Amino acid sequence: MASFDTVGNIIILPENTENPKKLAEQLLKQHKNIKTVAIKTGNYSGTFRTPKLKILAGKRTKTTIYKENNIILKLNPETCYFSARLSTERKRIASLVKPGEEILVMFSGVIPYPAVLAKNTKASSITGIEINPKAHKFAEENIKLNKIKNVKLYLGDVKKILPKLNKFDRIIMPLPKDAESFLDLAIKHLKKNGIIHFYDFQFEQDIPEKTIEKIKQHCNPKIILVKKCGNYSPRKYRVVADFKL
Ligand SMILES: C[S@@+](CC[C@H](N)C(=O)[O-])C[C@H]1O[C@@H](n2cnc3c(N)ncnc32)[C@H](O)[C@@H]1O
Repeated sequence: MASFDTVGNIIILPENTENPKKLAEQLLKQHKNIKTVAIKTGNYSGTFRTPKLKILAGKRTKTTIYKENNIILKLNPETCYFSARLSTERKRIASLVKPGEEILVMFSGVIPYPAVLAKNTKASSITGIEINPKAHKFAEENIKLNKIKNVKLYLGDVKKILPKLNKFDRIIMPLPKDAESFLDLAIKHLKKNGIIHFYDFQFEQDIPEKTIEKIKQHCNPKIILVKKCGNYSPRKYRVVADFKL
């Protein structure tokens, strides 16, 4: 059976699935909690990093409710980037947060990181910045759904909004495709002893060297760790580097 992603009650089949329509009907019968089966018809692309999805079976809706790490998120996985596969990474970051921290999540999407941190740590504030208006709208709704009080969200470009904000104890940069172009700004807005979580895409043989090289173009980092935190394509990995200045 082909591997697939599940977001709430929607199954998303990969682009190259054979006999997708037949498989979709089978999956709908086998999994009582699944209401819709869709197939990816275009990979993550554009500024918003969104895929194209086509519904194959079940309810004709792409909006769903997803649960992880004591949070719930309402989202449409076609209009907003989302990956359930990062739930372990979000839990890892939450385990590092100390009471009272002021945290920035650049590229906050439908707020998986801010919500996990708000619900599972004693951070004093979490700020999120997101440029996709549809993701921002779900994010505002998700603050209410989770009854979160310490998350503040901005709609817009990190490069325009962050210069108006103060410094942070921890900055999370979950945009592996282009995080490097935001590194100088992140470094400027990091408090003394603060930590940056920098995400990147790399081939196996280039981990950790190429990610460290990228960071060294912008500062003299004290690298805490560099590790894989998921697959991007058959040979490319999502990598996270935790570092201080
Ligand atoms: C890979 S997604 C991660 C979203 C979310 N953090 C998550 O883990 O689900 C990257 C997000 O960055 C947003 N984005 C891209 N460029 C941006 C910018 N210049 N300023 C703010 N957000 C941006 C995209 O719209 C997208 O939602």
